[in-house]
Amino acid sequence: MTETRLRVELAARAYDIHIGPGLIARAGALIAPFLRRPKLAIITDQTVAALHLDSLREALTQAGIEHAALALPAGEATKSWDRLQQVIAWLLSEKIERDDIVVALGGGVIGDLTGFAAAILRRGVRFVQIPTTLLAQVDSSVGGKTGINTAEGKNLVGAFKQPTLVLADIALLGTLRPRDFIAGYGEVMKYGLLGDAAFFDWLEENGPALAAGDMAARAYAVRRSCEMKAEIVVRDELEHGDRALLNLGHTFGHALEAATGYDGARLLHGEGVAIGAALAFELSQQLGYCAQECPSRLRAHLAQMGMMSDLADIKADLPDATGLLALMAQDKKVKDGRTRFVLARDIGQAFVADSVDLAAVRAVLEDALAARVG
Ligand code: GLY
Repeated sequence: MTETRLRVELAARAYDIHIGPGLIARAGALIAPFLRRPKLAIITDQTVAALHLDSLREALTQAGIEHAALALPAGEATKSWDRLQQVIAWLLSEKIERDDIVVALGGGVIGDLTGFAAAILRRGVRFVQIPTTLLAQVDSSVGGKTGINTAEGKNLVGAFKQPTLVLADIALLGTLRPRDFIAGYGEVMKYGLLGDAAFFDWLEENGPALAAGDMAARAYAVRRSCEMKAEIVVRDELEHGDRALLNLGHTFGHALEAATGYDGARLLHGEGVAIGAALAFELSQQLGYCAQECPSRLRAHLAQMGMMSDLADIKADLPDATGLLALMAQDKKVKDGRTRFVLARDIGQAFVADSVDLAAVRAVLEDALAARVG
């Protein structure tokens, strides 16, 4: 299977995304041209380290690159002030300099934390993303959003910091738990829903094969997702406009993650996004923007993929509609005190709505909560 390369055309901050199987074995050769001296640092988590760190080390050693690695506990709780401090202290103790590169080997948590550490260490060092989850390969490793969670909410502290290179090795996806893979699929589907109806059609046809391990289907889905993400990021790097479309499903999804205590055992980010996207289409329909077929078609695809599609699928206590609305008000996309939603006129036709009638949001939430007990 061939490897593809996409360019994120951001002038001085432009970079390549390589997509294909077996990239980790070539990581040394691919990273070497960016190094000013043959030394780098790797941040990873303990789960990923057990699976993939040796392969990366071997590739770096073969290319004559000296390296040290820090493996943190896996899970969302690692995106914290404490872990950020630990990473920074470790990078300083490893004498990582301004011109060096830090490699993030892992999923969204490791990528976001490492990117933020790179943004602030010595006022900014470069970093390379080697995403190991579907979610990270199609979303979080591309586009430069980095950060941590705080007690007040998710991703409320961070920086825009573009990576120098992204290596999306799709063979690594074979080691994911099915639940993690399918949660990442929520972000793949998002691209079809927000701007490419033909891609959504393709997913309806090929999603089950992709989930079952079809590598050609995985390669196409990752590439199409990265293409769409790159196009949007190039148009609006700092999210003053179109980039907010990438948050389809996230306003509801983040509130659900907060309500379940960011506990991946109860709700994974991608699961929250999938349910959130279904609620966003429901809201769009209630507000008269799209036909009832749209949320129905989306829910049918979620069911076809064995994904969560409703609040009833969350096996944990949830606050009432007032509580969920309060969590949404803490979203970082709040502007002039108003929560922004990504709504849709059809599959593939999303738009950002700055002022949404909160009574309609409440009604959608109340219906979805009632279905949990009904
Ligand atoms: N994950 C949304 C974005 O990168 O803008």
